[in-house]
Amino acid sequence: MSTQEMIQQLKREKDAVILAHYYVGPEVQAAADYVGDSFYLSKLAAGLPNKTLVFCGVSFMGEGGKLLSPDKTVLMPDLEADCPMAHMVSKEMVEAARREYSDLAVVCYVNSTAEIKSWADVCVTSSNAVKIVENLPNEHILFIPDKNLARYVAEQVPQKHILIPDGYCPVHEQMKAEEIKAQKRLHPEAKVLAHPECNRQVLELADYIGSTSGIIDYAANSPKNEFIIATEAGVLYELQKKRPDAGFYFADTLPVCEGMKRITLEGILHVLRTGEHALHVEEELAKPAGETLKRMLALASGKGQL
Ligand code: 13P
Ligand code: SF4
Repeated sequence: MSTQEMIQQLKREKDAVILAHYYVGPEVQAAADYVGDSFYLSKLAAGLPNKTLVFCGVSFMGEGGKLLSPDKTVLMPDLEADCPMAHMVSKEMVEAARREYSDLAVVCYVNSTAEIKSWADVCVTSSNAVKIVENLPNEHILFIPDKNLARYVAEQVPQKHILIPDGYCPVHEQMKAEEIKAQKRLHPEAKVLAHPECNRQVLELADYIGSTSGIIDYAANSPKNEFIIATEAGVLYELQKKRPDAGFYFADTLPVCEGMKRITLEGILHVLRTGEHALHVEEELAKPAGETLKRMLALASGKGQL
């Protein structure tokens, strides 16, 4: 039996479901029951009937699944698969901002540890950050931890005063505008589709800015046949499925997230066989961090308020 077949069999036996982010490798995406962006995976995790969720992504994604479904077992194929940006906030910074602005809302990008989420009022993902911030009653917003997404949201919602932090995603921050321009010279008709975690110089070149799902949907529905993609290279698998006729080009220094690439079929098989690498979130963090995530789901569906 192949590794893929063993995974599918064990998954059925253990009532498990495999969720994967678009940045994991193609073989892992092919093994998954659901593949999506962070927001889609959070929504799913809150409502799936299965006993066990295997989260193919970095640790904050699995943690999010556990926070939203505390009674389920969440298995991580690799416990070292981490997102450096998810740690780039200090409690002192959040406390100082709260002291300075009495009406402050602390908005936390889902790319953050459970501890950081527990300091915040509401979570957002790249696909709903603008909408959620726009609808908050607060004038002053501390947006943590990503400076690039924070600046992008500030530009889209100029009526708010947004405090910009100094965290960043190394993969998107290091992408060079020169390399995107070089692709543009080679493919002048191509549309540039960028993730808002990119630096300002790259975003200035973009025809479209959005989450990984947003980028995929844009290409899927566009009459154009060439696209320069400014996000992690794992999205190529879905892009080629949706648009086998189109050309997709990346910066020459290929943007690759090391944490995401730690997820392998062998890792999935191992956790399904052994039940090892189950995620636990400390009890005192689980409640406040879970609340900020649930508030995101409610606000994104237009039901909740801060
Ligand atoms: P999405 O919100 O588009 O899934 O992006 C997650 C991420 O980690 C981007 O680097
Ligand atoms: Fe984190 Fe960047 Fe990897 Fe996304 S691409 S998981 S933000 S390091």
